Amino acid sequence: MTSGSFAGMAASSPATGSVTAVPRAAARSQGSATQLPAEHPLVSGLTADSPLLTQYRGGRNTAGEITRPHRRPVWFMRQAGRSLPEYRALREGTTMLDSCLDPKLASEITLQPVRRHDVDAAIFFSDIVIPLRLAGIDVEIQPGVGPVLGTPVRTRADVEALPTLDDAAFAPITEAIGRIVAELGSTPLIGFAGAPFTLAAYMVEGRPSRDHLGPRTMMHADPETWKALASWAAEVSGRFMRAQLMAGASAAQLFDSWAGSLGREDYARHVQAHSAAAFSHVTGLDGTTPEGHRVTAPLIHFGTGTGEILDLMKEAGADVVGVDYRLNLAEATRRVGPETPLQGNIDPALLRADWPVLEAHVREVIAAGSGAAGHVLNLGHGVPPETDPEVLTRVVSLIHEIGNED
Ligand code: CP3
Repeated sequence: MTSGSFAGMAASSPATGSVTAVPRAAARSQGSATQLPAEHPLVSGLTADSPLLTQYRGGRNTAGEITRPHRRPVWFMRQAGRSLPEYRALREGTTMLDSCLDPKLASEITLQPVRRHDVDAAIFFSDIVIPLRLAGIDVEIQPGVGPVLGTPVRTRADVEALPTLDDAAFAPITEAIGRIVAELGSTPLIGFAGAPFTLAAYMVEGRPSRDHLGPRTMMHADPETWKALASWAAEVSGRFMRAQLMAGASAAQLFDSWAGSLGREDYARHVQAHSAAAFSHVTGLDGTTPEGHRVTAPLIHFGTGTGEILDLMKEAGADVVGVDYRLNLAEATRRVGPETPLQGNIDPALLRADWPVLEAHVREVIAAGSGAAGHVLNLGHGVPPETDPEVLTRVVSLIHEIGNED
């Protein structure tokens, strides 16, 4: 598990060069509680020894013993969403962000893919820009486009005018998660947030962009403003993850979807410490199972095109590294060490290939991941909206069968 000493990490890491450590005091929230509630599914023991969490822990049970889960775990990024007809039906007439903030809708949409595909985890139906919306920022998800802000955040004055986020605003999130975990039983719920760079990229550009020139210019041309913006983003994302874990999520994933547009030096100097600050809101959260074992929620760090910075993403405070489809998992293990559990990395493009091609690819991914201490199957990025959901169900049962035969 992660140590939680990120200030030390930023100062001592050989790769971080002149990184400016983010003051820890600025990255504290929701009182000082570090205990997960007794009724939390990790603490009650409901999810603690699930196949997913066992793999995230490097093949160990809550007692710390090496164990072999009864099946090989798999879930899919964007498993909830447009690939499911039942999702399209439920979403009709409600905007994306409004549906995220309707606890009944968000809970039902989260559960749909678990029921349909028998995946080993639910991923909370929400969005990385939800903390912005909850802070009162004018943001929408435009269908087919992505997040669009009414007013981009580009100057020091813009950053200074950013609102503070009151923890009470997370009430719809807490309520949705309560409903979800009540239905999930022993299947863990994964919470998530956007990493500071990816979130700040949307804030500076005001909309999706290909090269993220705005934030990349800002971190060099006006580093103080960049630091203030990334610190703000780390704080709201960290608190969003914390609210989800306190409400019942058993793991959390930080999405740095666009970090692949950064060179290694820029990531080390201008981004890594902020991602560490986001993680610092949720490291150290723990509880004790009825058997007396200490449990913590595994933390996953994922981005696309991040093969060159995987080790730095791990160092930012992750237990598990998510790998996109571009990098073979055996090579990922070489880069982050065999003790690091991996998640990934079925190529979403192959979901449309003939079954024998897809099956051979899934088997290759499993073989490539076998050198890591733990491996959770996933896609190398989200489920494309046009995916035939029956293919996903078939991939899940293939992965579960392969777990049983060898
Ligand atoms: O199953 C899940 O993964 C559920 C939850 C989830 C959503 N967004 C729901 C969603 C998660 C984990 C996210 C994270 C997210 N949101 C990321 C990081 C993951 C990644 O894909 O890299 C990013 C970059 C965003 C921002 C965002 N939100 C984009 C780029 C889009 C797509 C816009 C489009 O229409 O193509 C969204 C919208 C969004 N978020 C949808 C879903 C299901 C589609 C909304 C719809 O149904 O129209």
